[in-house]
Amino acid sequence: MAKLFFLLSGEHPTLPFSELKAILEAEGCTFRQLDKLDQVLRIEAKAKAINSVKKRAAMTKICSLELFHCNAEFSEIMKAANEIPFGKLALKGESFVVRVKRVKRYSERLDTMLLERKLGEIILKEASEARVNLETPQKTFFGVITDGKFVFGLKLAETVPSEFVRRSPSRKPFFHPSAMTAKLARCMVNLTKPKAGDLVLDPFCGTGSILIEAGLIGCRVMGLDVKRRMIHGSLRNFKFYKITTEGLVVADARALPIQTVECVVTDPPYGRSATTLGSTTREIVERTLDELAEVLGEGRRVCLATPKTMKVSEIGEKYGFRHIESHFVYIHRSLTREIAVFERK
Ligand SMILES: C[S@@+](CC[C@H](N)C(=O)[O-])C[C@H]1O[C@@H](n2cnc3c(N)ncnc32)[C@H](O)[C@@H]1O
Repeated sequence: MAKLFFLLSGEHPTLPFSELKAILEAEGCTFRQLDKLDQVLRIEAKAKAINSVKKRAAMTKICSLELFHCNAEFSEIMKAANEIPFGKLALKGESFVVRVKRVKRYSERLDTMLLERKLGEIILKEASEARVNLETPQKTFFGVITDGKFVFGLKLAETVPSEFVRRSPSRKPFFHPSAMTAKLARCMVNLTKPKAGDLVLDPFCGTGSILIEAGLIGCRVMGLDVKRRMIHGSLRNFKFYKITTEGLVVADARALPIQTVECVVTDPPYGRSATTLGSTTREIVERTLDELAEVLGEGRRVCLATPKTMKVSEIGEKYGFRHIESHFVYIHRSLTREIAVFERK
């Protein structure tokens, strides 16, 4: 077991933490949480857990092996760094850089550039044959100042945010204003903890954003939409990202044409940009949850995005689901989305 720490996206206070833990659980990585700081999670786990996070996460930025953590005080940081045998980490002739990032405005009296320089000097003292390379280093030592603490280690992986930008709704061949961002879609998929090969259903698939993200992490995917135009459109998007499906079907989610799936991730229509065909969102969600309870096995998960005012957590409980967690995402003045996660009882 190693000590690892992750720098999480600051775009939401709770989603990145839940996504990261869900990925570790989905991939069967045993871990123990050591500390939860603002935008940083410290855990004890096998270092290979990082591979799964790098492959799947939408809201984790940097994964590192922890070398030390201490209070965000200059003297404590120097003392802790001087005790690390950097000679074993930065090998002969290897190049490295030290990067320090401050979360929000924590411990502003600490100068990040001064810390980078001083830590670099300590590393060079211990590993005298290593050299500094600011542009293309072989190793990056990475520190974060957050919540009155300083966490420092060796960066093992970094996720690529531009990947999600490349799959933003407006860059897909078929666009619709109701489409969800690739990042939120991936995060919702992860919250249902699918393994590669699991069948993920989106019964309101629209342009296919959610299923494309599930397909990219190795899940089998299936989509329904009541509108033929949306099914044709999502098929175009699937082809573009080279995702194969188990089926894209014109169907009403209130009468599921399937027997069994492993996870459900979806964003039902709210009647603004996406049609509810004269029903209310509440009625659609209730009837769909009732159907989903029949096709999901015990302990299997559903993640739904609905308007906060609907109080979906209470609805799920009525239809055979245990409410696991909810995250609230502000969209605009008249819409805050509730991202709710349920488990089949
Ligand atoms: C909010 S959109 C989904 C957007 C999708 N997540 C995306 O990123 O493109 C909801 C979709 O549900 C579809 N829909 C509405 N009523 C439905 C029903 N009863 N069964 C299945 N699909 C329905 C709409 O045609 C619309 O495409």
